[in-house]
Amino acid sequence: MRNAPLGIFDSGVGGLTVVRAVQQLLPSEDIVYLGDTARVPYGSKSPETIRQFAHEDVRFLLDRGVKTVVVACNTATAHALPSLQERYQVPIIGVIEPGVEAVLADPQAQRVGIIATRGTVRSHAYQHALALRRTGLILHATPAPLLVPLVEEDWLDHPSTHAALHTYLDPMLDRGIDTLLLACTHYPLLVPVLSKFLPDGVRLVDSATTCAEHVKQELTKLDLLAEEEKAGKLEIHLTDLSDQFEDLSRRFLARSPGRIMRVSL
Ligand code: DGL
Repeated sequence: MRNAPLGIFDSGVGGLTVVRAVQQLLPSEDIVYLGDTARVPYGSKSPETIRQFAHEDVRFLLDRGVKTVVVACNTATAHALPSLQERYQVPIIGVIEPGVEAVLADPQAQRVGIIATRGTVRSHAYQHALALRRTGLILHATPAPLLVPLVEEDWLDHPSTHAALHTYLDPMLDRGIDTLLLACTHYPLLVPVLSKFLPDGVRLVDSATTCAEHVKQELTKLDLLAEEEKAGKLEIHLTDLSDQFEDLSRRFLARSPGRIMRVSL
């Protein structure tokens, strides 16, 4: 099982930010990635629909013999992780726990801002997970849906993105947040602009990097790390394929994605 691939899925190609972080940390792992580009976005859909899609995504990966599944999508983790973990035998890792642990790694963290899709914010999954682990935290969670298309448009350091960041973040900054949790696959691409935008003293936590670290810990604990001598391969499957998705995949992965396969679920 150790040399079986790791399965990673997302609603689209945004989850390639998690793939990139996993590849940097675990270069020997083979990865099978599924992006449900035919049905993206998940962030505005109902919890029932998100759960149904997430189960279909997991079954696709299990049919490819993966040893573990990583739910790279925050919205799918927020609505479907417990039901996926109940249903399937393989370990299933979501992005929320790692993000929450990374926030709490700083004992000084007290006022935490969370930006995510509407679905993730409404699920209260991050808010519950944080409040359960540390009492007295002050949480400000805001849906920031416009950031997804702005990132996809490659408007990272663009006046429209600055305006959206002001609208979403100024109320949190006025309330003195000390930590900003980026709870959506797309937001890691905004780290350079956010680092300039946020005042000194506000810590940025990005769920892609922390998720990769969590995957490493889990695989180590389960004795499922791939042998180190080999270079890992990446297979990308998308439920819809267009020039735009190929282009986006290159940007999220920060290199050529190789041949992308179009699949049906
Ligand atoms: N992947 C989603 C997330 O991390 C963002 C895009 C979508 O809404 O599907 O929540």
